[in-house]
Amino acid sequence: MPTYDLIVIGSGPGGYVCAIRAAQLGMKVAVVEKEKTFGGTCLNIGCIPSKAMLHASERFDEAGHAFGKMGIGIGAPALDLGAMLKFKDEAVDGNVKGVAFLFRKNKIETHTGVGRIVAPGKVEVTATNGAGGAGTKTTIEAKAIVIATGSDVARLNGVAIDGKRIVSSTGALSLKTVPKRLLVVGAGVIGLELGSVWRRLGSEVVVVEFLDRILPGVDNEVARQTQRLLERQGIAFRLASKVAALDSSGPALKAKIEPPAASAGAGTAGAANSIEADIALVAIGRVPYTEGLGLETVGVKLDNRGRVPVDPHFATSASGIYAIGDVIAGPMLAHKAEEEGVAVAEILAGKAGHVNYDVIPNVIYTSPEVASVGKSEEELKAAGIVFNVGKFPFTANPRARANQQTDGFVKILADAKTDRVLGVHIIGSDAGNMIAEAAIAMEFGAAAEDIARTCHAHPTLPEAVKEAALAVDKRAINM
Ligand code: FAD
Ligand code: NAI
Repeated sequence: MPTYDLIVIGSGPGGYVCAIRAAQLGMKVAVVEKEKTFGGTCLNIGCIPSKAMLHASERFDEAGHAFGKMGIGIGAPALDLGAMLKFKDEAVDGNVKGVAFLFRKNKIETHTGVGRIVAPGKVEVTATNGAGGAGTKTTIEAKAIVIATGSDVARLNGVAIDGKRIVSSTGALSLKTVPKRLLVVGAGVIGLELGSVWRRLGSEVVVVEFLDRILPGVDNEVARQTQRLLERQGIAFRLASKVAALDSSGPALKAKIEPPAASAGAGTAGAANSIEADIALVAIGRVPYTEGLGLETVGVKLDNRGRVPVDPHFATSASGIYAIGDVIAGPMLAHKAEEEGVAVAEILAGKAGHVNYDVIPNVIYTSPEVASVGKSEEELKAAGIVFNVGKFPFTANPRARANQQTDGFVKILADAKTDRVLGVHIIGSDAGNMIAEAAIAMEFGAAAEDIARTCHAHPTLPEAVKEAALAVDKRAINM
């Protein structure tokens, strides 16, 4: 029986990073992956293809609307959707091949098949392809097992995702034609990112959201501004509404819209109670994925949301079995899964692996981007923490003005007594890259004053971060 120090089940950002770090630390590592390619949700059907489509559709939109005023005359841009999807597929291909290369480089053995934990230290792999043929079973063993099986799409009651007209994010990343009318259920990250893609390519987009706000969890002021900017781009929102039924029997989909039961009547007065669409994207969240893993056999119970409970060292209730990434509690983000992958590998090697959950950046890749790290104003108020706010708009940033991309602002929240940075929220062009500076500052326990006294290159967008830090002490220069 093949024997290892560590078996990782799942090759997403949590699993593949964990395997590489463990191999670097001298362990003999095996990865079990049920899909044909490595990289999990993120590389195959998540972060990477969505960002490729966001990038391409944004360039298409710019070519149609922004090039002219910069003196670049190209006429109306023509869309070749097939070529754009190929561009996206190439991005995925390059990335998944990169993971396969890293596995070889680090001498990590791979098993293509569904992994099932049959006993402590033992994983049975049912081949999904390979020389022995699909269905062949092999058992492998190791001192430690890391579950990194990720998450799956959350289903909407009574609505079957057929992958053609009613799609999840996976289907929405590969539509063969631009839908005339796209209904998006859920104003979360996927709804807004993929809604933006198809809006830019020509769809009429209506987003139906259960709550009375978009982007739950994001700082209120930032979410409100995001909604305004997306509305300006032509995305329509129906808040405090739910899709009670979705009829796909006719040539057009018919969604029955109702107020959520708890706040009947709120927010929808006078609005049509049905919406017709050609395609519906269901994006109401994701759920942990543990199907067929055999957790009951080894005594790992799930929490009330289907997640695998772990202690601060990522250990489950079963000895020698650990879990990381989307399958455990916390934000379902690739970089959070990666940090946990590194931490658990280091813990298994006897080192002090650790994840600082107070400093996990969050980026929404709409246009403009929305990025944050640390606490929102609402969270600080709820915790009774007194804080100062420093805000600086991109309209006052010279580089943003030069680029004529002045939407948005930087907001820094700092402890009123100590000036320590507690949260940074950015809405604006390139916010996703800018938030890294804030994360480093917070990781080092910086005060707003530290950012304010750091020389920032001119003219750059991050000068707005410095100005927001100065504004915490009411001494912004360019405003
Ligand atoms: P996953 O990436 O889900 O990987 C789990 C792997 O385990 C899969 O390959 C699966 O096939 C395999 N597996 C499951 N069960 C078994 C089994 N029994 N045996 C063998 N293999 C098994 N996050 C970001 O940070 N930034 C983004 O921009 C971003 N964009 C996203 C866009 C979309 C459309 C979606 C859907 C998600 C996005 N995410 C993004 C979230 C991100 O993809 C996840 O947080 C991340 O992939 C979680 O990593 P993971 O390793 O925990 O699990
Ligand atoms: P989400 O949790 O971000 O948003 C789901 C939205 O759907 C919420 O606003 C919720 O209130 C709403 N909702 C729930 N039930 C509803 C109903 N019945 N009718 C109408 N609205 C309803 O989930 P989403 O967008 O599906 O994304 C899943 C996860 O994937 C995210 O939480 C995030 O962790 C990850 N992701 C991250 C990205 C990034 O980092 N840029 C990009 C895409 C996904």
